[in-house]
Amino acid sequence: MKTVANLSDYKSTTRGTGSPSSIILAVGGGKGGVGKSFLSTNIGIFLANMGFNTIIVDCDLGAPNVHTCLGEAPPKLNFHQFLSGRLENFEAAAVATQFAKLRFIAGGNDHQELANITIHDQSRLMSAIYTLNADFTILDLSAGTHTSTLDFFLMADRHLITLTPDPTSIENAYRFMKAAFFRRIKRFERQLGLEALVASIMAEPEKNEIRVPADLLSRILKENPEAGRELEKFMHHLRFELVINQTRSTKDVQLANSVSTVSKKYFGLPAGVLGHLDYDNAVWHALRKRRPLILEFPNSPLYAQILAIARDLASPHLKKAVI
Ligand SMILES: Nc1ncnc2c1ncn2[C@@H]1O[C@H](COP(=O)(O)OP(=O)(O)OP(=O)(O)O)[C@@H](O)[C@H]1O
Ligand SMILES: [Mg+2]
Repeated sequence: MKTVANLSDYKSTTRGTGSPSSIILAVGGGKGGVGKSFLSTNIGIFLANMGFNTIIVDCDLGAPNVHTCLGEAPPKLNFHQFLSGRLENFEAAAVATQFAKLRFIAGGNDHQELANITIHDQSRLMSAIYTLNADFTILDLSAGTHTSTLDFFLMADRHLITLTPDPTSIENAYRFMKAAFFRRIKRFERQLGLEALVASIMAEPEKNEIRVPADLLSRILKENPEAGRELEKFMHHLRFELVINQTRSTKDVQLANSVSTVSKKYFGLPAGVLGHLDYDNAVWHALRKRRPLILEFPNSPLYAQILAIARDLASPHLKKAVI
């Protein structure tokens, strides 16, 4: 399999002609336990139900639990057979689920954190993800802002941020978005010959009037308009899409609008509001029974809320779907 020499170039080098072009959805959010896996797996179930071939990749290598959320036993095949070279074809690790058109690639059980994998393995994984044969590939990410988690987040076509209305979750979501913003700049600065300029601006943020991350982009545009405009284009592909999980009130639901406004002001990047999911005890009841929510509690209000999110994600591609 072709691997990527330079992570900063991986998209252009791997998503070339001939390779399948699955739509990649990354589900991140910074904080642990906010519902990233719940959202990833349920979006997967609904997209598959709409007729899209879907693969969920459990990128939470240290604590993989996509199989549990899907109500499946841990499969024999997983990520690590590919990483260790025992499995040449990454897609061969994709196992079927009880839902037609939905497969998943499990994390392994040997507690190797994504944070600890080598750059070489990371680039092999990214290349392999780009070659998956599916309409949608969903990346369920781990908590935190490790660079490899950010790279998996940034490699996607759509960037979902999951957060709950808790102040700690909001704080971590901003931290994650900020880390993704700077990681994105880092990825392109060398390509655009901006390394020295960015380093000199960031060496003296106050003197250079860098109060919020967006100021860095403005400053670069002022100092080097041509490269700055290129960078701006790359940055605008990064559009956060917010899902507020475990909402209990209208105020909780509206939180997405204020996060979106702050994102625009702080990062100069638009943040869409993809939807919200109410807090529902049915989630943990279903989990305890190791059954997907929609099979165990199809009357949960979450059904319509997840469906709305899945429809939004699917809408640009609905022609492909069977129904
Ligand atoms: N809408 C909801 N209502 C009630 N409980 C929920 C809801 N969403 C998630 N949960 C519960 O929150 C817990 C954490 O969810 P989940 O494992 O999806 O989070 P995570 O962000 O993937 O966590 P980690 O970072 O550890 O992987 C689970 O026990 C799940 O049952
Ligand atoms: Mg998880």
